[in-house]
Amino acid sequence: MKVQNVRVIVEDDYEAMSDRAFGIFKRKLRDARVLGFATGGTPLGLYGRIADGCGNGEVSLKNKISFNLDEYYPISRSDARSYRHFMEKNLFSKTDLPEGSINFPDAELQESEAVLAYSAAYAADGPVDLQILGIGVNGHIAFNEPGCTRNSRIRVVELSDNTVERNGRVSARAITMGIAEILESKSILLMASGRDKADAVMRMARGGVTGDVPASFLQLHDDVVAVLDEEAAAML
Ligand code: GLP
Repeated sequence: MKVQNVRVIVEDDYEAMSDRAFGIFKRKLRDARVLGFATGGTPLGLYGRIADGCGNGEVSLKNKISFNLDEYYPISRSDARSYRHFMEKNLFSKTDLPEGSINFPDAELQESEAVLAYSAAYAADGPVDLQILGIGVNGHIAFNEPGCTRNSRIRVVELSDNTVERNGRVSARAITMGIAEILESKSILLMASGRDKADAVMRMARGGVTGDVPASFLQLHDDVVAVLDEEAAAML
């Protein structure tokens, strides 16, 4: 179904959602050189399938370049709570994506240097061809929290109390791609699973475009597919 400008696919449960997302990922991978990855529990099923696919030759990331959406700030890349560590453990180490092709916010740098360095990497190798996205319960995408603007770009942000709490109190700040870079992606694959995402998903697709619901900016993009499980789609 199509809700506003967002193509919506609803699957029974998390595994079926991950299967469907992997199918779309494989198809779009052929024309994509630059991949955008998200962290969080939602894409783990997809990442497991990509890792397996690299293991059995079904897919290859050998000629790809990657960007990640965000990282806590400041944090050491070896910190087990960092997004860099999460990606190494759950995806990078299990694929043939070359180490030198991975772009990641460097949250060990001083703030303005970290922003400059990631912006320069993005200017050199961006925009993203295929962006994987999750969604926060408050409608955030990457770490673009409610109150952000359409033209926001790579920057250091303050996280909302709700996000800090839900994410295990790792840090109250983060470095994130902005709404502008996300909307520059050629193609966007958003995933959401579980009852606690239903309200955010509904406001992403059915409400107006507003900075109060950062995901609603996705209505401005003409190639977004949202793969949901039934619980996340319950309020659509
Ligand atoms: C974090 C990340 C987002 C992610 C969101 C949802 O805040 N910065 O990129 O989409 O959490 O995470 P989960 O998939 O675990 O619900």
